[in-house]
Amino acid sequence: MATGLLAVCSGDSVRSDGSGDPAPSAPAAPTQVAVTGRHQAGVTLPRSAQPHLLALVADLGATVTPGPLLAELGETIQTLTAGSDPRLLGLSPGDLTVTVGVGPRLVRTAGATLPGAADLPRFSRERVASRERGGDLLIQICAGDALLLPVVAAALLDQAGDRIQERWRQSGRRGTEVPVTEDRSAPRNLLGFIDGIVGPHTTAEQERDLWLAGPAAVVGGTLAVLRRMEIDLTRFAALSVAEQEAVFGRRRASGVPLSGGSVDSAPGLSAKTPDGRYLVPVDAHVRRANPTVVGVGHMLRRSYSIDAPAPGLLFISFQNALRPFTATLTRMDTSDALLPFTTTTASATFLILPGYDPRRPLGSTLFG
Ligand code: HEM
Repeated sequence: MATGLLAVCSGDSVRSDGSGDPAPSAPAAPTQVAVTGRHQAGVTLPRSAQPHLLALVADLGATVTPGPLLAELGETIQTLTAGSDPRLLGLSPGDLTVTVGVGPRLVRTAGATLPGAADLPRFSRERVASRERGGDLLIQICAGDALLLPVVAAALLDQAGDRIQERWRQSGRRGTEVPVTEDRSAPRNLLGFIDGIVGPHTTAEQERDLWLAGPAAVVGGTLAVLRRMEIDLTRFAALSVAEQEAVFGRRRASGVPLSGGSVDSAPGLSAKTPDGRYLVPVDAHVRRANPTVVGVGHMLRRSYSIDAPAPGLLFISFQNALRPFTATLTRMDTSDALLPFTTTTASATFLILPGYDPRRPLGSTLFG
């Protein structure tokens, strides 16, 4: 049997002058992101999500009390992001963020009716092993430097010791950032489309749709949904560009809605061709997922493209109720041109804990 090895590399560090020599000057280090405050970092900060992500999901041992564990993880995150933890092995943390969430089982121990206490229901086109459904603890690590991810994960797992057992992990990569407005960009996903244009981007929209306003134990937190969606890339790539654009309802190169305008224009869902066909097709993803049509608030989508175990998207959304996600996917399930290209192979929801500081440790409002 013939064996083949395909090595594909691309990088910014090689000179474009053809010499092949590494560029002599190191790029400027990315700015440090504030760890403490009303909200955890890694949701709206940094403003453009970092290029690399590792999401780690673990379960707590049956007898472990969450309060002390979370407080310790919060302290470790502060030393890691400050660059003072020896387990960082001298690597510069740059724009590292670590965001911690707790799964429904743990939330229910703090209050059966709290936001985040409900499990995510099942949907169509899922092939999720029981190990990759749900989990007690989410550790979302994001950074500009991909090397940091396993190092930071190892440090946090070391800190937790045998109090937690890893359940599943997923790494991801953001494509090139494309400017959407003067002060905002969104990345291309691995289908070539700009992903993350619509969402709660102003402070007022974030107060309304993103952050939890109560009860007191969860103020400043939010709810995360993670879905690993594998994509049949070969079948999608076999479509013409016009067919690909009809799947999403936007132009592939520019992100402009098929109804016209600019990349940040809302898709015109009632706009028609002279012969009466909708410019944004009836089953286009942006029509099926449109929050006004679904009748829900906005979700902040902060997804990462993946290439293992198969090409696809680690869909990540943040919102202050589960319903915007569940109602949207339920509506997509009945007819969304994108879904037949996808199979969901991991699924979970977490309450992203409120922000913290030395006087108010991570998790203390729920488990203190
Ligand atoms: C492989 C999976 C998916 C891919 C590749 C994908 C990609 C995209 C792209 C390219 C857009 C248009 C640009 C934008 O506004 O960001 C979009 C819009 C959107 N997607 Fe997805 N998406 C996926 C799954 C989902 C899921 C599971 C949901 C939620 C249940 C969702 C919710 C939305 C929403 C709310 C919008 C904005 C619609 C609008 O108002 O225009 N997407 N998605």
